[in-house]
Amino acid sequence: KLADLKGIKRGRLRLGVITTAKYFAPEILGEFCKLYPGIEVALKVSNRDRILDRINANEDDLYILGETHGDQVDVEAVPLAPNPLVVMAPRDHPLVGEKKIPLARIAQELFILREPGSGIRDATQRLFEQHGIRPRVRMELGSNEAIKHAIVGGLGLSVMSLHTLTLEGPEGPVALLDVEDFPIMRQWYLLYPKGKELSLVARAFLEFAVASTSKISDRMEQMWPKLAHHFRAP
Ligand code: PGA
Repeated sequence: KLADLKGIKRGRLRLGVITTAKYFAPEILGEFCKLYPGIEVALKVSNRDRILDRINANEDDLYILGETHGDQVDVEAVPLAPNPLVVMAPRDHPLVGEKKIPLARIAQELFILREPGSGIRDATQRLFEQHGIRPRVRMELGSNEAIKHAIVGGLGLSVMSLHTLTLEGPEGPVALLDVEDFPIMRQWYLLYPKGKELSLVARAFLEFAVASTSKISDRMEQMWPKLAHHFRAP
């Protein structure tokens, strides 16, 4: 139990998280460090292939990813907050405010896609493929932040995690479109190698992160009340 671990004074916690998890993992880590100020923490943010390499090389205590990756690594996976993927457009786009926009209508627009190897790119492409639609890809960009600026710059629409808008909130320069079949619901997972004996600190963080999940969902619900029903784990 977390209460028994309150006495932890020292120790190290190494976390490896996938790029898009950088929008919420540092906040959980920050709260955790307030509780255990003597703990030294290291946070590595990297793409999926790099994080899977780090799991195989046993470089960190815990990992946050957007899938369990059970086919590639032998891990225990603990579900964390939901990760809704939504269609984003510049605030002055003519489709902003329209209801239930068909996927085929969206496919007429130019798209900015994440780089190969991104879980969000794969999920987006899968959805279009399932509907026999090929998006018009204007460019590929390996950074959520660069994509946000490219959207605002009028270079195209994109599908990204709602978590990427946590700081600017619902009134920022990037608007959400209400598109049929969206949001694509993904889920964050905390992973660690199967059979690995977690340190006391890592166990404390795991429990703390799981307990923080409802706070993250609450905040997202407040920001985007229309999407609220998607944020609750089933
Ligand atoms: P990504 O991962 O940032 O690599 O796309 C997030 C996810 O898998 O949902």
